[in-house]
Amino acid sequence: MPDTSDLSSDLKIISQRKKEGIEIPLQRNVQARSASTYLEFVKFIHNALPELDYDEINTSTTFLNTSFGAPVIIDSMTGGTNEALKINARLGILAEKYGFAMGLGSQRAGLLNEKMADTYMVARKNAPNAFLIANIGGAQLAKGLGMDEIQKIIDMIRANALAIHLNPLQELIQPEGEPRYKGVLEKVSDLIKTISIPVVVKEVGAGISSDVAIRLENVGVSAINVAGSGGTSWAAVEKMRAESVMDNIKIHLGELFWDWGIPTAVSIIEVRRALKYIPIIASGGLRNGLDFAKCLALDASMCAMAYPFLRHAAESGEKLFAFADTVLAELKSTMFLIGAPNIQAIKSSKYILTGALATGVEDR
Ligand SMILES: Cc1cc2nc3c(=O)[nH]c(=O)nc-3n(C[C@H](O)[C@H](O)[C@H](O)COP(=O)(O)O)c2cc1C
Repeated sequence: MPDTSDLSSDLKIISQRKKEGIEIPLQRNVQARSASTYLEFVKFIHNALPELDYDEINTSTTFLNTSFGAPVIIDSMTGGTNEALKINARLGILAEKYGFAMGLGSQRAGLLNEKMADTYMVARKNAPNAFLIANIGGAQLAKGLGMDEIQKIIDMIRANALAIHLNPLQELIQPEGEPRYKGVLEKVSDLIKTISIPVVVKEVGAGISSDVAIRLENVGVSAINVAGSGGTSWAAVEKMRAESVMDNIKIHLGELFWDWGIPTAVSIIEVRRALKYIPIIASGGLRNGLDFAKCLALDASMCAMAYPFLRHAAESGEKLFAFADTVLAELKSTMFLIGAPNIQAIKSSKYILTGALATGVEDR
């Protein structure tokens, strides 16, 4: 445990970072610029004889032995500020009503005091039956976050799973970042042996390669959230934070690595090619239900989105529900046009890989 002075300075730094972590994506453009998900290179074959009625289409699915209304995860985002309290409250209501899974933002802040913890707990309060995913950084694990603290994070929201995020790019650009990744895998391995809920490992927008996926599976990870490039860029967010403290090297690095990462579609294909069965969560730049269907066709089990949910949740509960309805209508429309009555059927649908995806990724 850090001493009290560390604790209060930690609290100040984390609160400010959490505040900016919502404000910057909402107020500035930190989406991919030249990078894309490569989902534009996945083309479904249109089915002119779908032989099904739109109203019969069923989006329910199962993942990690749990049933969901749709294969949707509100990806890990926030907690630790007043604005986060409001956003998590709205996202919790959405998860409960629509049968979506929901990830919370990194919960280290919630360990610091009770008021902070409330900003995460509100999700469980509003979503008593939803599948909630606790969140902590791999770098924090390596730094020595103890099992007691991990258990507190899990208990805080009565989590159904724990996500460990890997964010080496973000740590690198972040003004107060700690780019120390030695020993992370060993800590993930130890953790999996100790806790009773499934452990998901996720990136935050730079993707997971086949090699990393194999190493993660070897230590017993239950699912991999690829969070590839093409959506929110954490190099961009941290570049903007570096501007406010005039850290010129970090500003330069943030600019240079703005679009760094493995495109989401490539990451899904790579992971599935290396590992036949591990459940994959697609994330990173998914922006509509057609994107979801493409990821499911590539054999993802669930589809996650962060920024679009944040944007709508920050406006109002009504806007958030209307957005979720639109995404589900887009998913169901795609299913109708490819003749897939249910989620499983999407996996056997016909598609072609074009452009950059047609050539595949070279093995060396
Ligand atoms: C405002 C915001 C905060 C985020 N905070 C976290 C976090 O605390 N932990 C984490 O694992 N990922 C975090 N992420 C990353 C997302 O979970 C996701 O992997 C990434 O943003 C890609 O999805 P997107 O392109 O749909 O935004 C955050 C994303 C956003 C937009």
